[in-house]
Amino acid sequence: MALGLVLALWLAPQLVRAECPAGCTCNKNGAVMCTGSIADIPSPMPVHTYHLILHATHVRALGKDELARLPLITRFAVTHSGLDALHPQAFGQSQQLRSIKLSENNLSSLPSPVFMGLSLLEELHLDGNQITSIDRMLFEGLVNLTELDVSRNSVTYLDADVFRSLGSLRFLNLGRNLLARLPPALFHPLARLQHLMIYSNRLQTLEAGAFDGLAELRELKLHSNRIQSLPRNVPERTFYHLPDITKLTLFKNPLLFLPDQLVGHMPKLKELYLYGTKLTTVPWNLFANMTGLESLNLHLNSELRDLPRDLFCFLLLNNNRLRALPEHIFYNLSNLQSIQLHENRLRSLPANIFTLKMNNRSALQNVTLGGNPWDCTCSTAGMLDWIRDHENHILDDPTCQEPFELQNISVASVRHVPCPTSPAVRVTTSQGSVATPVHNPTSVTSSPHWTTSTLAAISNHSPDTPTAHTSSSAFSDHLRMLYACCCPCGKT
Ligand SMILES: *[C@@H]1O[C@H](CO)[C@@H](O)[C@H](O)[C@H]1NC(C)=O
Ligand SMILES: *[C@@H]1O[C@H](CO)[C@@H](O)[C@H](O)[C@H]1NC(C)=O
Ligand SMILES: *[C@@H]1O[C@H](CO)[C@@H](O)[C@H](O)[C@H]1NC(C)=O
Ligand SMILES: *[C@@H]1O[C@H](CO)[C@@H](O)[C@H](O)[C@H]1NC(C)=O
Ligand SMILES: *[C@@H]1O[C@H](CO)[C@@H](O)[C@H](O)[C@H]1NC(C)=O
Ligand SMILES: *[C@@H]1O[C@H](CO)[C@@H](O)[C@H](O)[C@H]1NC(C)=O
Ligand SMILES: *[C@@H]1O[C@H](CO)[C@@H](O)[C@H](O)[C@H]1NC(C)=O
Repeated sequence: MALGLVLALWLAPQLVRAECPAGCTCNKNGAVMCTGSIADIPSPMPVHTYHLILHATHVRALGKDELARLPLITRFAVTHSGLDALHPQAFGQSQQLRSIKLSENNLSSLPSPVFMGLSLLEELHLDGNQITSIDRMLFEGLVNLTELDVSRNSVTYLDADVFRSLGSLRFLNLGRNLLARLPPALFHPLARLQHLMIYSNRLQTLEAGAFDGLAELRELKLHSNRIQSLPRNVPERTFYHLPDITKLTLFKNPLLFLPDQLVGHMPKLKELYLYGTKLTTVPWNLFANMTGLESLNLHLNSELRDLPRDLFCFLLLNNNRLRALPEHIFYNLSNLQSIQLHENRLRSLPANIFTLKMNNRSALQNVTLGGNPWDCTCSTAGMLDWIRDHENHILDDPTCQEPFELQNISVASVRHVPCPTSPAVRVTTSQGSVATPVHNPTSVTSSPHWTTSTLAAISNHSPDTPTAHTSSSAFSDHLRMLYACCCPCGKT
């Protein structure tokens, strides 16, 4: 972005060519960008240079007091240049620096005093190097640092107090390193942190309380690690003190279980990414404290066998390519209030698919079935009966695809279902054992306070593969999309 901006500035008509060194472009605002086969910072450089970018150069080393002759420089970048040596005092006499970007180079270690005294530094980008270790004093005194990017390196270890000066930090990216463990209190000094990325490391566990004190954290990315378990015993609550969090990614971790009390009050959490795990179930009250949840990604959980029956009250399975659903798929979801199945490839459904456990108390209020190629022959008579009997609860108008004489006719209006074997048999509504008692509509208003949160699970299932959905797992990768809203579980 910044680079693009500077590029745009060069194209500005009034270029200050007079003092601009060969291989560089300078603009009137004091930004200088050099590229090409230069091996050193060109000299002389305009005195008023405040922003120097060396991009795709041959600058391999920065020597002592390298920037001393640029007293006004506040932003400095060497990127894509194969830089592999930094003098410990490279930025000596440049205490005015606000931004240093050394991204995409060949740095493998950083001499610890190199950033010493840069108390005005706000941005430090070290991403895309080969850094294997970080000295515990490297970030000492960077009290104004708001953004630190160490991603895409080979860091295996972080000292417990390496971040102790970084009380102003808002953004920390440690993604794509080789971290296997984190000291329990590593992040505790980062009281202002808003974005924390630790994805694509080798973390096997998370320490209890690791994120305590990050009261302003909005985004926590922990995906693609090797985390099997989260601390499960109170008071070892992993995500308990994150009241501002809006996005949490845990996907692609071999999680085996989730603790009953995973999260504290998280009213702002909108997106939870939980796919690609080894979870076999989730806690019954998983969503109890996520009252603002809009999107839940639970797909590709091949081990998921059972979901707590109180988990969902509002399932949106519409606009998938579902061709069939197993008979008991909704059975245990006894809080289910609404099921949307429109725009699928369903030809029929098991007659009692909407019969929920404790169905006498089923909260099922409305169903959508339109946009499916319903088979209105006698083979689906039970289902058709259910549709007719529950017309008040079907929000759309499902129509028949077969037989041809009934094509595009409303399913609800089909009274006689011709059967090839015994064409004269009239299928009556009493025949199907499918009557699912539903609440009297008037009781809706007195039902518990449903949240309106919507959850989404999106799989990358190839859209053109026929999907005979026969898995007992309600959330296999056959589903392109699953939206649901969670009940305030346990309050019913
Ligand atoms: C970075 O170092 C590697 C070996 O460590 C080398 O192969 C590569 O050419 C270097 N890159 C540059 C841009 O110098
Ligand atoms: C950041 O730098 C400013 C001076 O520009 C200073 O006033 C402020 O105290 C510094 N912030 C911290 C947290 O030290
Ligand atoms: C929800 O959050 C509150 C406050 O943080 C906590 O006391 C409660 O145990 C949490 N509930 C669950 C089910 O985690
Ligand atoms: C419903 O839950 C019970 C346990 O409560 C379980 O044994 C059963 O297999 C579940 N049925 C379905 C269809 O998921
Ligand atoms: C369908 O049910 C859901 C959940 O109870 C409710 O939010 C929604 O308003 C209902 N829609 C209609 C049209 O009744
Ligand atoms: C629920 O319905 C079944 C039959 O469908 C009946 O045997 C049972 O007594 C009912 N339970 C209650 C609590 O009404
Ligand atoms: C049913 O509707 C579809 C789409 O509108 C149309 O192509 C088809 O010809 C109709 N079939 C009959 C029998 O009217």
